[in-house]
Amino acid sequence: MASDDAQPDQPWVALAGDYEQARAREDSLDRLVEWPAQRELLGDVAGRSLLDAGCGNGGKLVELIEQGASTAVGIDISDNFLTDPPAGLELVRGDLSELDALPALAGRTFDRVLFLQSFGYAEDPVRTLRAARSMLTDDGFILLARTQPIRYAVERAEQNGTSLGAEYFSTEPFRYRHTGWNDQVQLTKKPYTMADLLNTFGAAGLWIETVVEPQLPEDARRRYPHKQAWMDKYLGILIFKLRPIPSA
Ligand SMILES: C[S@@+](CC[C@H](N)C(=O)[O-])C[C@H]1O[C@@H](n2cnc3c(N)ncnc32)[C@H](O)[C@@H]1O
Repeated sequence: MASDDAQPDQPWVALAGDYEQARAREDSLDRLVEWPAQRELLGDVAGRSLLDAGCGNGGKLVELIEQGASTAVGIDISDNFLTDPPAGLELVRGDLSELDALPALAGRTFDRVLFLQSFGYAEDPVRTLRAARSMLTDDGFILLARTQPIRYAVERAEQNGTSLGAEYFSTEPFRYRHTGWNDQVQLTKKPYTMADLLNTFGAAGLWIETVVEPQLPEDARRRYPHKQAWMDKYLGILIFKLRPIPSA
């Protein structure tokens, strides 16, 4: 019988539709906080080529093509893509752990490579980032959004009756069900500390140009106090703009 351990990415085949439904909700944190902040850090995309690793249904790339990106490739394990993508957009089923071996990416370069809440699924994070780095054009950068590691530590400390430190520094993979997406589907998550994350960037030959910790805008705080309560407890996400270290 297949299990999460045997096939760690298969849960996303079941989860993808529920995730997109949740993301589309008026009060989703992706709509209110994450995508606006990711979009701002990405800057002007006119004439730029994009690779989105773990792109979900490809909806964010559709917006970026509409805003002038020249070409875009979205890679996702779940194959839950929007039908009828616009000209210039390719959506390909593939594993972001194997970016360096995907035929659709062979010999290609990109001005921007995105990992938006998908990097945690890389089996070997340094290999994945090195592959992304090798595909960047001269002025290219990687935009990587990841959950604050404190978020899972807080949640697990509550669930397990342990301490924040015990969970933050734990190295054991844990099972996780997202109640806002579909609590029947179980994901396997690898814990990470801030040091783990920053060291991964260095080991892949990248430096951090900018990092942001986006928060709800004032009007959204008033309209969605339950979301502000969630942010107050779990902090939200980190978004990094990463560039190749020239000498690496
Ligand atoms: C939290 S969703 C984020 C989707 C999208 N990037 C966004 O910002 O809305 C995580 C995505 O990563 C994809 N994913 C998980 N493991 C993957 C893998 N090994 N290779 C490629 N995509 C993967 C999932 O199918 C899902 O679409």
